[in-house]
Amino acid sequence: MSIAELRASSPSIIMIGSHPGVIQSMLDYDFMIGRAEPSVIAVIVQGRKLERYFWGTDEVIIPAVPMLSDLKKELADKCTVAVNVQSARRVLSSTKEAVAKLPNLKLISIFAEQTPETHSLELRTLAIKKNVLIVGPSSVGVLLPGTMKIGAIGGTQYPQLVEAKIAKAGKVAVISTSGGMVNELIHIATGSGQGVSFAIALGGDRFPVTDPMTAMLLAQNDELTERIIYFGELGGTDEYEIARLIDEGKLTKPIIAYVAGVVAELFDTPPQFGHAKALAQTDDESATAKKDRLRKSGVIVCDHLGEIADKLDNGDTTMSKEQNVPGIGERKKRAIISHISGDKDGEVQLLGHELLETIERNSIASLVLSLLLGKQVESKRAIDFTDLVLRMLVDHGPYVSGAVNTIITARAGRDLVSGLTAGLLTIGPRFGGAINEASRGWVDGATSGVSAKEFVDSYVKQGGIIAGIGHKKYRIDMPDPRVEALMQFSGNSNGDRYLKFARSVEEITTTKKGNLILNIDGAIGAVMLDILESELGYKPDELRELADIEFFNALFVLSRSIGFTAHYLDQRRNDEGLFRLDTDDVRYIA
Ligand code: ACO
Ligand code: LMR
Repeated sequence: MSIAELRASSPSIIMIGSHPGVIQSMLDYDFMIGRAEPSVIAVIVQGRKLERYFWGTDEVIIPAVPMLSDLKKELADKCTVAVNVQSARRVLSSTKEAVAKLPNLKLISIFAEQTPETHSLELRTLAIKKNVLIVGPSSVGVLLPGTMKIGAIGGTQYPQLVEAKIAKAGKVAVISTSGGMVNELIHIATGSGQGVSFAIALGGDRFPVTDPMTAMLLAQNDELTERIIYFGELGGTDEYEIARLIDEGKLTKPIIAYVAGVVAELFDTPPQFGHAKALAQTDDESATAKKDRLRKSGVIVCDHLGEIADKLDNGDTTMSKEQNVPGIGERKKRAIISHISGDKDGEVQLLGHELLETIERNSIASLVLSLLLGKQVESKRAIDFTDLVLRMLVDHGPYVSGAVNTIITARAGRDLVSGLTAGLLTIGPRFGGAINEASRGWVDGATSGVSAKEFVDSYVKQGGIIAGIGHKKYRIDMPDPRVEALMQFSGNSNGDRYLKFARSVEEITTTKKGNLILNIDGAIGAVMLDILESELGYKPDELRELADIEFFNALFVLSRSIGFTAHYLDQRRNDEGLFRLDTDDVRYIA
């Protein structure tokens, strides 16, 4: 992998694990360099479907999925960079999975410290084999000014990014084993007006997946890079390898180096510093010995950091001191996200258009379906079916439990909302509220390959009730005319696979009891599933999600609210006074 190839590709980044501070800093960098949209396209994290971040002073939503395998194919194919912020024990497996499942991956940055050294060495082999640049472990990331900021490198607050002057590429490569020091060196390079061609924090482990020699060769092969600043540390033999590359003529660009850890030579026994590699186990691994070796090969070796700027400052100010980047004023997280409606330029918008425009272009059925799905629906078939369902469910007589509760509450002298709510609170697993669970069952049954008999037996075994099956009034020899009316919307392009499965279940249940028919809840769920799949392209998992968020029950609630309201108003007109059962309506068993 080359820096030029990374620079040429507009990054699409997947976060393996969530780290809101790092992600926000990457999005701020995207905004600062003028990207049209965030470089982060998904977050792999348990327990949420989205993450919200600032985009300038506005906000963006980044989709989240629990596992990499849950990622939509188009996102997996689009991904070119991954940032792995998972724990050390998961670094190897999650990085290997990313390399295996992200076909266009070019770069991974690994954040965790204390990753087992054998895992790092295994990843080094994988990186070479798969031609993916894997940086870390213990890395704060990679920066290609003007292209991408991967990880915390360069800063984590917007003002820090502005202060670092890293919006545009320069000519000095920064290679550092230390995360904190990589930012120091970036500031030194940009502060001297040189600008950074790329910066890479290799991590302070003894065996970083990308070692300093590989990083040096990346700089050597990067046309934009003219000079290299290197921050090394005591411990290990990297600097001897770098010197060898120079002696062999493979590294010809000027290098300004600082090797930290001379202070360790004041101790009787070599101390272990913070980074795992920062321990001089032999004299050759001491900072002084390594500095001397680099000097022999012509590297400009500084004894203190301030010298680096002096060595850099040869008057060639590649970068204009000022880089015009957008400012960011006060930022406030919104309290609510809505895909349904909101204010835009002082006008209330509904489904992306000015409210009156939206209601002009929609019937009540298309408005209901579009609002419930959270997006404008154009399918006439889907809208017509919704229209039929809304009309069909408005009422089913004053005998029905919900209607009875509304009637009783009205006669108790309560207000409309109380009367309506009394009816609505009756809707549940047995009455009107079985469409969600029925739909979930039809999707699981039709997509799992189980037979209808296995499906029914699974409920019999657990003594469960099959949602969408059974009715107090209707039975096999007296079918629900509403269910028959719904069949005009069968014949969908998915072969009506959900309705067919529901009907196959009904064939079995009605052999047990005549009233165990496919009821109106079950039928509405089945046909709506077939239409959503055929007309709007919903996938089974998306249909399951609609069931989980109660989209299907919403249809019954909306429609039956009309009937309950009608019964309330009717009882207020009748004004018969308080309802009370007669004693012979009740059997008292002491
Ligand atoms: N799945 C499996 N067994 C059932 C089902 C079912 N859906 N419905 C009834 N049974 C069984 C019961 O387990 C019981 O078995 P048992 O005699 O061995 O104990 C027997 O049939 C009688 O059960 P009841 O509840 O007394 O029968 P009822 O006719 O009152 O049931 C009801 C009607 C409540 C609708 C029931 O069928 C049910 O709960 N269905 C599932 C929920 C559902 O789909 N509701 C929507 C109805 S339509 C609407 O509300 C708009
Ligand atoms: C309804 O639509 O209310 C019914 O199917 C339930 C019932 O008992 O009639």
